[in-house]
Amino acid sequence: MDRTLVLEYTRVTEAAAISASAQIGRGDGMSADAAAVKAMRAAFERVPARGTIVIGEGERDEAPMLFIGEKVGPSDPKLLEVDIAVDPLEGTNLCANGLPGALAVLAVAHKGHLLNAPDTYMAKIACGPEGRGKISLDKSPRDNLWALAAAKGLRPDELTVVVLDRPRHATLIQELRAAGARILLVTDGDVAPVVATCIPKSGIDMVYGIGGAPEGVLGAAAVHCMGGEFQGKLQFRNDDERARAIAMGMKDPDQVLNVHDLVRGDVLFVATGVTSGPLLKGVRRIGNRLHLQSLALRSTTGTIRWVNTDVDAHRYIHEYEHA
Ligand code: FBP
Repeated sequence: MDRTLVLEYTRVTEAAAISASAQIGRGDGMSADAAAVKAMRAAFERVPARGTIVIGEGERDEAPMLFIGEKVGPSDPKLLEVDIAVDPLEGTNLCANGLPGALAVLAVAHKGHLLNAPDTYMAKIACGPEGRGKISLDKSPRDNLWALAAAKGLRPDELTVVVLDRPRHATLIQELRAAGARILLVTDGDVAPVVATCIPKSGIDMVYGIGGAPEGVLGAAAVHCMGGEFQGKLQFRNDDERARAIAMGMKDPDQVLNVHDLVRGDVLFVATGVTSGPLLKGVRRIGNRLHLQSLALRSTTGTIRWVNTDVDAHRYIHEYEHA
């Protein structure tokens, strides 16, 4: 994949973040999501690649969103064909309630190189490069914590684990605390913490628990770019979801999925902050300028690029909100 595409796709998450930011704290997640989707779709038109959304907001007949199977970008047959996973507004509630950590995020790979995951749940475990090959969903929380601590040359009580604050995680939290971990409970948004496990000094060592499957593929894309560890196992709520996974091409929907089962080859990952959080600063308006922060990753080189952008607010709003 041409390396300049990483900057082209950064413009796409920037556009989504700017549009979503107009809805921060307004208590209306639907409007925030819709604004991000509209801007993202318009911004794809300017990227010189023919994209297909493989992880999106919903199916064509269910949601007026960037849907699975939708073609985005120019239709020029000479352009490279890519598969794209998007979450135009990851942490919808965070944005609607003005809480930290909402972001616009996407991942891009060659055709067929992103898992076509159904919109269900996924049990996840993730950590940075030191824990590669050391942690696994087949091990107990205690064994994973202790294995990562040993790999990092730390004591288990020096590790911080992010867990989504959900009743389904009560036992997991108990077991991790008993094993010595500090738990950082988050109300929403498990993509950013997964990314943060691979960023030295982020203060986040591991992410554990059940979250969205699409978010799992996005997180795995970032981990793939930075050489960390990620495992996922789909958690179906009913037989229909399981049948859907099989129809989408999964041979064994109950298998533990490693990073390379989720994403393969040359991958780009980009995220732009909407509200400020531990990973990224959110959109800030100062006078007539908008200040943004993005993280752009390329698996081929392992480059971790922090992009600080300062744009003319009126120009951006004209380009994307009236597109
Ligand atoms: P959205 O903002 O896209 O709705 O996702 C927020 C999120 O917290 C994800 O980060 C997480 O994977 C998932 O929802 C958890 O699902 P649930 O809230 O149903 O437990």
